[in-house]
Amino acid sequence: MIHKRKVAILGATGAVGQRYIQLLQGHPWFEIEVLAASERSAGKKFKDACNWLMETDLPDEIAEMSVVNADVESVENAGDVHLVFSSLPGDLAGPVEAEFGAMYPVFSKASAHRMEQDVPLIVPEINSDHAELIRLQQKIRGWKGFITTDPNCSTIQLVLTLKPLMQFGLKQIVVSTMQALSGAGYPGVPSLDIIDNVVPFISGEEEKMEAETLKILGCFNGECVENADLKLSASCNRVNVKDGHLESVFVKLDQDPTLEQIKEAFINFKGVPQDLLLPSAPKHPIIVRNEKNRPQPRFDRDSGCGMSAVVGRIRKDPIMTFKYMCLGHNTIRGAAGGGILSAELFVAKGLA
Ligand SMILES: NC(=O)c1ccc[n+]([C@@H]2O[C@H](COP(=O)([O-])OP(=O)(O)OC[C@H]3O[C@@H](n4cnc5c(N)ncnc54)[C@H](OP(=O)(O)O)[C@@H]3O)[C@@H](O)[C@H]2O)c1
Repeated sequence: MIHKRKVAILGATGAVGQRYIQLLQGHPWFEIEVLAASERSAGKKFKDACNWLMETDLPDEIAEMSVVNADVESVENAGDVHLVFSSLPGDLAGPVEAEFGAMYPVFSKASAHRMEQDVPLIVPEINSDHAELIRLQQKIRGWKGFITTDPNCSTIQLVLTLKPLMQFGLKQIVVSTMQALSGAGYPGVPSLDIIDNVVPFISGEEEKMEAETLKILGCFNGECVENADLKLSASCNRVNVKDGHLESVFVKLDQDPTLEQIKEAFINFKGVPQDLLLPSAPKHPIIVRNEKNRPQPRFDRDSGCGMSAVVGRIRKDPIMTFKYMCLGHNTIRGAAGGGILSAELFVAKGLA
């Protein structure tokens, strides 16, 4: 029997923070105790501080909660918290998350700490064993708490689909993304920049995909993570879609499996969250669509309650070995849903 943990959300008024609030309604293990954001919002009721963008109604009890500043003192004055979800802007997250990490388990969606040697970068189906890195982190930093991170929203769904291909000797990956507007937060990309347009640049995104993938698919040797021996080239674009990042993926494999074997590998893929029946684990981490024109963001982003990567158009490639399309919901699996699944993993392992 798992006792309920009271949680604080840092960046609660933003695109990801709102998704945390939505997904944590009725959660069996976590309940929202404190909502924190910038000093622009602090002191206001949540309903006055936030432009609620979720399709479901803003819950009454959340609407009436007061927002506090995102610092340890303000959060501690506001409630008794066991665990922290952070969706702060990347530049701010570094020092603020470190302040919280000294005392609390911190589950971060920001990029600030992802590539630090003693910080796990977790996709629970792939590298749940990397969670053990926090023991080393606590020893090195002398912390009671810890920081663990989730990947960038375009990396999570990609690595979910790459992991089952490693059995065929995955060597090289070329990926081109078509990323949704909500990936840029709220209010995000100015409307006149994106209506009737595609923007072929997202600052820092390609570098993140190229570096994070190697760490996630790497091996934890008890002291550090050794990067996977892979090469990845990413090209990232912002498109006029509300939610859901679509990616065109080309993979080079050592072996020459049949199309049917590739499909089977995707369909049969599962990991620790499915074995442990974690509350937010999708039954199928990867869903394969057979229609010739799927996946599409509008139709497929909510598959598996937004927690599954959806793959389609798997075909042989004349230069690489195979190519396919994959889609993931950037604020669910790519952000708040991924953060909650990581926290469930740590709780189930007795680490938080
Ligand atoms: N959007 C996605 O799909 C996605 C996916 C994965 C990861 N992420 C990452 O998640 C983080 C949040 O992204 P988002 O899309 O939710 O951004 P967002 O919509 O711009 O929200 C930012 C949040 O941070 C708060 N904030 C801003 N400045 C602050 C300050 N000086 N002190 C304390 N709080 C401050 C904002 O509060 P106020 O309302 O008070 O300004 C708001 O709650 C980023 O690091 C982003 O890279 C986003």
